[in-house]
Amino acid sequence: MRYSPYTSGYRDAPCPISPCKLLLPARRASRPQARDLLALHQRYGPAVRISPTEISFSSAQSWTDIYAPRKRAEFIKSPFYDGGNFADKAHSIVSERDPVKHAQMRKFLARAFSEQSLREQEGIIDGVIQRWVDRVGEVSKAEGTVDLTRWFNLMTFDIIGLLAFGRDFGGVESGKTHFWISDVLGSMSQASLSDTLARFPWAGKIYMLLRPGWLKSLMAASQRHQSYTMKVTTQRIYEKTDRKDFMSYLLSDREEEAISDVQLAAHASDFVIAGSETTATTLAVCIHHLLLTPSILQNLTKEILSKFSTYSEITASSSARLKYLHAVSLEALRIFAPLPLGLPRVVPRGAE
Ligand code: HEM
Repeated sequence: MRYSPYTSGYRDAPCPISPCKLLLPARRASRPQARDLLALHQRYGPAVRISPTEISFSSAQSWTDIYAPRKRAEFIKSPFYDGGNFADKAHSIVSERDPVKHAQMRKFLARAFSEQSLREQEGIIDGVIQRWVDRVGEVSKAEGTVDLTRWFNLMTFDIIGLLAFGRDFGGVESGKTHFWISDVLGSMSQASLSDTLARFPWAGKIYMLLRPGWLKSLMAASQRHQSYTMKVTTQRIYEKTDRKDFMSYLLSDREEEAISDVQLAAHASDFVIAGSETTATTLAVCIHHLLLTPSILQNLTKEILSKFSTYSEITASSSARLKYLHAVSLEALRIFAPLPLGLPRVVPRGAE
C-alpha cells in the first residue's frame, strides 16, 4: 500500500482552534517533531504508522509516488491546508486543495515565474542585495557583530515584498522587522502548536481554557495581516507603472480568469511567506556551514573568483553555471530543510 507522508489524521475531528490557521497553514512543524520522525524512520524503516490514520514515508520513491502529478487518483492536500490567508474569502495557490482548481491557479501564475519574468525582475533583486551588502557592512562596523539570520530575513522579505506587492518592508534600510513579518514568523510557531492541538482535540479545549487570550491574539494578528496585505495589494493594482514584477504579469492576465482583488492579495501574500523565510534560512545555513568547514569555503571562493572579475558579471544566469555553488546550495537544503514538515496528502481511494 502506498500512503502519503501523513494521511489526514484529523479529518473527522475538526480543530477546535482552527481560526489559528487563518494566518497561515501549519507550514513549519517544530524541530523536535521532525527529529522525532527521523528517529522513528531510522528505527522502523521508510514507512512508519505515526497515528491511527497517518503514515509517514521517508524513501525517495515515495516522494515521486505521492507528489508527482498524475492524471487519476491524485494524492490531494490534506485538511492541514484548510484555513490559511484569506481562508474565508478566497483560496490561494497554497491553500487550494482541489487538484483541478490548483492546476488552473498554477497556469495563471506560471508567467509570473517564467525565465523571462525572473530575468526582468533581476534588477529589483540586485538593488536590494547591493544595499544589503552596504548596510550589513555599516552594522558590522558599528556593532561588531551581525545577526545574519535576521539580516537575511530582512533582505528576502524586502525582495519578495517588492516583487509581490510592489513595495518592500523597509527592513534593509531600517534594520527593523516590519509588523507584517513579525506576525508571519510568529504565526509559524503558533501553527505548529495548533497542528499538535488539532491532533488531540481534548488538549485543545484545555489549552483554550488555560490561555483564553491566545485565540484572540491570533485573530488580531490575522486581521492585521489581511488588512495590510489588502492595502498594499490594492495600491499595487492601481499604481501606474511599467515596472516588471510578479504582480505586473498577474494584473495583465487577471481579466481573462476573472481573478478578484482579494485572490490576488492571497496569492501575493503566499509568495512572500513561501519565498522569504525559506530563502533566508537556506542562506543562513549555507554561511553557517561554510564557516564551520573552511576547506569548502575555500573551494567555493576559488570557483567564484575564477569565474568573475567584476561584480557586474555576477547575474542569475552566469552564477547558475557554477557547479560547486550549486552543490553547496543543495547540500544546505539537505542538511537543514527550511520546511521541516511532511507536506501531508490524503491517500486516494483505491490507491495501491
Ligand atoms: C530555499 C527556498 C525555498 C524552499 C525550501 C521552498 C520550499 C517549498 C516547498 C517544500 C513547497 C511545497 C509546499 C506544500 O506542498 O505544502 C513550496 C511551495 C511553494 N513555494 Fe517555495 N520554497 C522556496 C522558495 C520559494 C520562493 C523564492 C518562492 C516565490 C517567490 C516560492 C513560492 C512557492 C509557492 C507559490 C508554492 C506553492 C506552489 C504550489 O502549491 O503549486 N518558494 N515551496
